[in-house]
Amino acid sequence: MSSTSSVSDTAAATAPIWAELQRHRDEQGQLDLRRLFAEDPGRGERLAAEGAGLYLDYSKQLVTDETLSLLLSLAEAAGVEERRDAMFAGEKINVSEGRAVLHTALRAPRDAVIEVDGENVVPQVHAVLDKMGAFSERVRSGDWKGHTGKPIRAVVNIGIGGSDLGPAMATLALAHYAQRDIVSRFVSNVDGNDFAEATRDLDPEETLFIVASKTFTTLETLTNAHTARDWLLSSPAFGGDESAVAKHFVAVSTNAAEVSRFGIDTDNMFEFWDWVGGRYSYPSAIGLSLMIAIGPQQFREMLAGFHALDEHFRSAPLAENLPVLMGLVGIWNSDLLGHETVAVLPYDQYLKRFTAYLQQLEMESNGKHVRLDGSPVEHGTGTIVWGEPGTNGQHAFYQLMHQGTKVVPGDFIGFNQTLNELGRHHDLLMANLFAQTEALAFGRTPEEIEAEGGDPAQVPHRVTKGNRPTSTILADRLTPHTLGALVALYEHKVFVQGTIWQIDSFDQWGVELGKKLANAIIPELESADDPHLAHDSSTNALIRRYRARRSG
Ligand code: F6P
Repeated sequence: MSSTSSVSDTAAATAPIWAELQRHRDEQGQLDLRRLFAEDPGRGERLAAEGAGLYLDYSKQLVTDETLSLLLSLAEAAGVEERRDAMFAGEKINVSEGRAVLHTALRAPRDAVIEVDGENVVPQVHAVLDKMGAFSERVRSGDWKGHTGKPIRAVVNIGIGGSDLGPAMATLALAHYAQRDIVSRFVSNVDGNDFAEATRDLDPEETLFIVASKTFTTLETLTNAHTARDWLLSSPAFGGDESAVAKHFVAVSTNAAEVSRFGIDTDNMFEFWDWVGGRYSYPSAIGLSLMIAIGPQQFREMLAGFHALDEHFRSAPLAENLPVLMGLVGIWNSDLLGHETVAVLPYDQYLKRFTAYLQQLEMESNGKHVRLDGSPVEHGTGTIVWGEPGTNGQHAFYQLMHQGTKVVPGDFIGFNQTLNELGRHHDLLMANLFAQTEALAFGRTPEEIEAEGGDPAQVPHRVTKGNRPTSTILADRLTPHTLGALVALYEHKVFVQGTIWQIDSFDQWGVELGKKLANAIIPELESADDPHLAHDSSTNALIRRYRARRSG
């Protein structure tokens, strides 16, 4: 929907194109990638695009030129360009919360001007980045001392969701660039096992906690933060001296009042703003733990990578625009071909947490059942994202991808250069990536298997039908710049899809009910008396069983 047109206007403009897409799908039937490649020898290079150091090959998707042309018309009619421009301009496109959506301002250059309610927000962004930079340098150099005068050797980020997944994913992704004499840990789960394991070998005198929470009211984060304070103050070195908190706790939040109430001096608070969604926040102060690990210079390189992709999204024609193409191919696969999941498969061990990060980005953003005006959606929304790094996944779930009855489209991500030259490892890794997309696309026919000889009874078991759609994203090297571009690519892909579905990709009301019910159940678990349980019979029975057996 454009920033000015209504949901119903946009629905009316896109309805004929959705109908055309359905007709086109039905008419062309099951496409055969073998035939498409045979008829068009240039397909592998033609259906590819490049931007911000990323190369996208979508030629192994089940699309023809007509499919792409219809999908591009859908993007135009849905007002992707207008809504994109509205987002970049700071319009309040998060309608259900009445907020601007300006994660792109977090990586805008110092001299950019981006206004929210008439105020240029770019100077605030850079002021916080400068403050983070100065603090990070102090911690990294050992100039920032703990309460007993020792330098910091461990940084523990306490946060959850967007206040955890981004920095945790990126700290691992960029470990190659990290200062290794400071360890980074992440505690997110309210399960005490998480805190216990993250801190069991740490020295409180050398530990810095970063309490990261946009709202500073999140149950998990506040519980872990209080536990961290008790852990610190109960150490013999501090003997309960509350003044130790100032040297061992900093906060990242939009909520100064709650930070102060917790007991953290707001001088030690790094601010961000309500126009940054939690799952879009790791290029903000939420990335402080990452900045301490890799240093301010590398952090800024990462922001430059985000910005390069932002500019690509803003300026490349739709037909060459990476996030637009990925978003449209995703809509084709899910809404038209009925494939409800996508496997994101990075062939790089440093990207081990990338898919988990994308799960929040995609599923919290686009798992919605109503449109911007509250009316029910007309098409399936959201995509179920899952995956693991290759080659590990090949020895686990790829069997289903090759021969199962459900089709799982895949995004394969790889790098031309390795960060650790170790004999043949990188060639072996990349050979596997290329082989998998080739096998998924083209399979092996009974005739080809028979020609190889062997037991004829095995032939049907060995056939792989192919026509399993994949995209491949290649970059030269996993640098901070590349990571920024890659994350921005997925952020904008999610945006394109959300726009076409006409949903609010920037709220998350669906998670509230579970939080509310948990708050009602907590006292029922903790009270000494037998509580009056007014749940359904299943929940009542589970609570009773837990109360009866919890102490072993
Ligand atoms: O419950 C979901 C959520 O609101 C996410 O959107 C967010 O990233 C996470 O909780 C953590 O929120 P906060 O940063 O306010 O602690």
